Amino acid sequence: MLEDVKKVLITKDEIDSMVKRLAAQISNDYEGKHLVLIGVMKGCLIFLADLLRNISIPVEFGTITASSYGSGTVSSGQIKIINDIDVAIKGKDIIIVEDLVDTGLTLNYLKEFLSLRGPSSVKICVAFDKPSRRKKPIGTDYKGMDIPDEFIVGYGLDFDEKYRNLPEICVLKEEIYAGLLD
Ligand code: PRP
Repeated sequence: MLEDVKKVLITKDEIDSMVKRLAAQISNDYEGKHLVLIGVMKGCLIFLADLLRNISIPVEFGTITASSYGSGTVSSGQIKIINDIDVAIKGKDIIIVEDLVDTGLTLNYLKEFLSLRGPSSVKICVAFDKPSRRKKPIGTDYKGMDIPDEFIVGYGLDFDEKYRNLPEICVLKEEIYAGLLD
C-alpha cells in the first residue's frame, strides 16, 4: 500500500491536534445543548470516531450515506441518499461531520435535507477543505484545514475504496489514478 504513496501531506500529529482543537470548540459551544453529530459515510468514519472521543460534553451520533448520481468518475451533480440516519433530530442541535468538502454539492444537499426534519440548529464540521474545487458555496462552521487540489487518501479517504486505513493524509502517485479521473 505504501508503495502507491507519493508523499505524506498531513501527519498523524497534525491530524491529532486538529481534531482536539475542533472537539474543544464544539464542547465549548454546545455546553447545555442537545448535540447530535451526523457523520457522512464512509469517508467520515475515522474522523467522526476521533471527534466523538475528544468531545467532553454529552453527544449522540448518527450516520448518513449520500452518493452522486452518474457513471464512473463523472458526477452529474445530483445527490441521492443511500442510507438515512437512525436518530431523531427534531429539536436537537446537529453538526454534519464530513471528511472532505470538494465541490460543496454533497453538503449543500445534506444541509437542506436534514433541515427539513426540524432540528434546532444545523452546523457543519469538515476535516479537510479543497476551496479551489468549489462549485456551490457552503459555510463551514468548524474546519480542520484547507488543502491543495491534490489526490489525497488515508484517514478514511479512499481511492476505489482502498487506502482508507492509512493513518495519515497521503498524496497518491499519479500512475495509480491516471486516466480514471474526470
Ligand atoms: C467524498 C467526501 C464527501 C464528498 C465531498 O465522498 O467524503 O462526502 O465526496 O464531495 P463534494 O463536496 O464534491 O460533494 P465520496 O463520494 O468519495 O464517498 P466516501 O465518503 O464513501 O469516500
